[in-house]
Amino acid sequence: MSYDVIIIGAGPGGYVSAVRCAQLGLKTAIVEGRETLGGTCLNVGCIPSKALLHATHSLHEAQHSFGKMGLKGAAPEVDWDQMKSYKDDVIGQNTGGVEFLMKKNKIDWLKGWASIPAAGQVKVGDETYATKNIVIASGSVPSALPGVTVENDKGIVVDSTGALELPKIPNKMVVIGAGVIGLELGSVYARLGTEVTVVEYMDAVCPGMDKDVQRSFKKILEKQGLKFIMGAAVQGVEALKSKAKVTYQPKKGGDDEIIDADVVLVATGRKPYAEGLGLDALGVKLTERGQIATDAKWATNVPGIYAIGDVIEGPMLAHKAEDEGMAVADVIAGKHGHVNYGVIPGVVYTTPEVATVGATEEALKAEGRKVKIGKFSFMGNGRAKAVGQADGFVKLIADKETDRVLGAAIIGPAAGDMIHEICVAMEFGASAEDIALTCHAHPTYSEAVREAALACGDGPIHA
Ligand code: NAI
Repeated sequence: MSYDVIIIGAGPGGYVSAVRCAQLGLKTAIVEGRETLGGTCLNVGCIPSKALLHATHSLHEAQHSFGKMGLKGAAPEVDWDQMKSYKDDVIGQNTGGVEFLMKKNKIDWLKGWASIPAAGQVKVGDETYATKNIVIASGSVPSALPGVTVENDKGIVVDSTGALELPKIPNKMVVIGAGVIGLELGSVYARLGTEVTVVEYMDAVCPGMDKDVQRSFKKILEKQGLKFIMGAAVQGVEALKSKAKVTYQPKKGGDDEIIDADVVLVATGRKPYAEGLGLDALGVKLTERGQIATDAKWATNVPGIYAIGDVIEGPMLAHKAEDEGMAVADVIAGKHGHVNYGVIPGVVYTTPEVATVGATEEALKAEGRKVKIGKFSFMGNGRAKAVGQADGFVKLIADKETDRVLGAAIIGPAAGDMIHEICVAMEFGASAEDIALTCHAHPTYSEAVREAALACGDGPIHA
């Protein structure tokens, strides 16, 4: 059997690329060794964590908000096994959906783990397939922390995959790393009644994010019961029979300190995954950080082999991989293929949500760029008050002279959806005034975006 394209890995990068290749008339196959399609995102990442975030947010609402809205009665009890099976059902619906898309687009699923014996060949099991093009979309895996052994099956020292499957809700959890995974899954367990302590090496949560948002985000999470030990470098984790001890070097210096927990979640980043593909023998070049090196059209140094998603440079985000997946399909089909890396949103799905796009105020100022900042608090937004979610703000950053929107950060209700208004504006090279002059329905959270845009000009109305 021979193909125009074989895609290795059926995560959001790979399966989206496969669909676009098929739409463009290319004979396409996708290789996936997991039992189900969808990769990390659908099986053990974005989708299951969102199911648990939704379930536990509902619990939190019942416990903390229902009473004041006149909804009386006992708060629901948690049936952890049922909550996990709800999550598994959500996973099943999504992975099944991807399988349907493969069939609908006549894409062959080659089941098993791929290797590349030579350019133009992909081996799966005992079978070797000929192909004109190969797209490596093999993703990433949690990166190990020196001195820490993750054993998901034991449920004591776990990574994000293990944290989705804990046999019981722990009393005490230590989360190593205040990044996206640590804060999302830390929130899930805090809402379930676990005492959650986050140990973070840096001085702020979500390194690299807008500083105002970092400060506000941490305060809000603290109000929700999460504890933080900042500026602390974890040195090691000792797993005992039913608990673990985390040793860290405190910020103040001096002796190492130890903190106990029933469960330790290691959330200190992910690394590219390309094991078993045979890249060494092929001579595929890697970057210094172990990513597959690609040019501006996602081509590796070996003709006919492309790479996209977490396995190459850039933010490890499903939607960045999807964009690259569509673009590389265009390139293979002889079309243009483009990704605007300056407009890739990032979202943390806590409550409130946090969403960012474009440049931060800090980065622009460090470049010497003159900017203006329009900020608007959700306290001035009627809809946010009506649903009891007036914590947070929209911050819009525009060029001081041209008024062109350069970036934004939102912390507040539905921030992850609202950010796209700003993405579209940036994609079109809009000014803050363009957003300010656009009629926004009332009462919506999105009005806060318009108010932030007004704040870049003559001023917001409701502040
Ligand atoms: P991350 O890179 O976002 O955060 C890791 C954190 O661990 C950093 O704050 C770092 O300073 C800290 N750290 C590292 N070593 C440490 C040590 N020895 N002691 C204490 N702290 C230490 O990584 P994370 O959260 O594991 O996420 C991995 C990737 O997955 C990221 O690229 C993220 O963007 C992506 N992801 C995205 C999601 C989303 O878009 N909502 C959800 C989950 C993951």
